[in-house]
Amino acid sequence: MRFLFKLVRPTIFLLTLFAFLLLIISIYLVFNDGVAKSNRILGIMHLAGVREEMDLLERAKTPKSFMDSEHLIMFLFSNADGNKQLQNSFTMCLTSLFSKASNPQALHFYIAGDVESYYIAKTVIQSIANKFGIHNQILVSYQNISQLEDNVLDIIHTVRQQISSGKEHRFSSPLFYLSIILHKVMPHNISQIILLDVDLVIASDISKLFSLFNNFDQEQAIGIARENQPVYQTTLWEYRKNNPKTRVGEPPPKGLTGFNSGVVLFDLQKLRVSSKYNSFLTEERMNALVQKYKFQGHLGDQDFYTLLSFDYEELFYILPCGWNRQLCQWWKHNGLGEKFDLYYSCSGVIHIWHGNCETSLLNYTTF
Ligand SMILES: *[C@@H]1O[C@H](CO)[C@@H](O)[C@H](O)[C@H]1NC(C)=O
Ligand SMILES: *[C@@H]1O[C@H](CO)[C@@H](O)[C@H](O)[C@H]1NC(C)=O
Ligand SMILES: *[C@@H]1O[C@H](CO)[C@@H](O)[C@H](O)[C@H]1NC(C)=O
Repeated sequence: MRFLFKLVRPTIFLLTLFAFLLLIISIYLVFNDGVAKSNRILGIMHLAGVREEMDLLERAKTPKSFMDSEHLIMFLFSNADGNKQLQNSFTMCLTSLFSKASNPQALHFYIAGDVESYYIAKTVIQSIANKFGIHNQILVSYQNISQLEDNVLDIIHTVRQQISSGKEHRFSSPLFYLSIILHKVMPHNISQIILLDVDLVIASDISKLFSLFNNFDQEQAIGIARENQPVYQTTLWEYRKNNPKTRVGEPPPKGLTGFNSGVVLFDLQKLRVSSKYNSFLTEERMNALVQKYKFQGHLGDQDFYTLLSFDYEELFYILPCGWNRQLCQWWKHNGLGEKFDLYYSCSGVIHIWHGNCETSLLNYTTF
């Protein structure tokens, strides 16, 4: 009997120990499954483009190369075949960009225009990247304009018809309105993109421009600099005459000066969900705004952003003038000399020189 008792005690002890271990293992397995599930959900949300929802854990785990691949830059580049001047301009812009880029591997270019121009752009970009010792492939994608869906094309035509003066001009091609619906065109897993003109010299690290997305407040969805000439003061003369106290068309820093679209930051994710922004992409709302301000533009997408900013200032983050230092001085010599400098002056560091109205940039290259 005593012998049996002696045998049972250690058995109970071992059984208890075993049960305890089993409990620990089960808790571990259940917990681990939960983590796996939540990772899977994050993955699905990620696929659905809900990038904002990714938590810090997921971000920390994301390999650097993936996060870096997000510096997306779009150029509208068309009719470049046989146009040496445009090709040179593009080469100068890209050379300046690569010469200052701290993280060139992160760059991914989207070229919107005709397919011949795309192949030219791609060749230029690859050869410049090689010149700067980057031998990996730099991503260059084609945004095929002829594949835009009808509903998207309709929006472009509607907006163009409402805000453009009707005459054919340099910026009347649908391509120059593409930016206003980029959030409907770009793949859903892309949440930020910067649109650049080709007549630029980029004198700073382009990563710094991307970091300005962090300065947007809750509502701001588009980052854009003021127009550096009194263009919109002129365009809006009738409204301004009837509303002498208006800020519309007034110079910085208080005025609603109007914008220049040579450099534009788009938070596509915010634009996709902004009912305010999207509600304006209809004939009725555009027409009401055009009538209210008696607006007749001729500068493509920047007319749209300018007009929208008169009533919906909060959608726009105003880029510091140094990030789109426009050099065109046409209006200085055309009747607005005395007020010109209020619009034109820009102090501080110049990060991007913009040779608009074909102003030479040769004095601003540093490479
Ligand atoms: C662009 O789209 C059109 C129409 O779908 C197609 O015919 C053409 O091949 C596309 N171009 C490229 C380069 O994918
Ligand atoms: C976005 O999705 C496409 C496939 O649809 C993929 O090729 C691309 O790498 C993705 N980009 C990012 C930044 O996740
Ligand atoms: C470049 O700068 C020089 C010296 O300031 C000036 O004389 C010249 O006109 C400038 N050239 C251009 C193309 O702006």
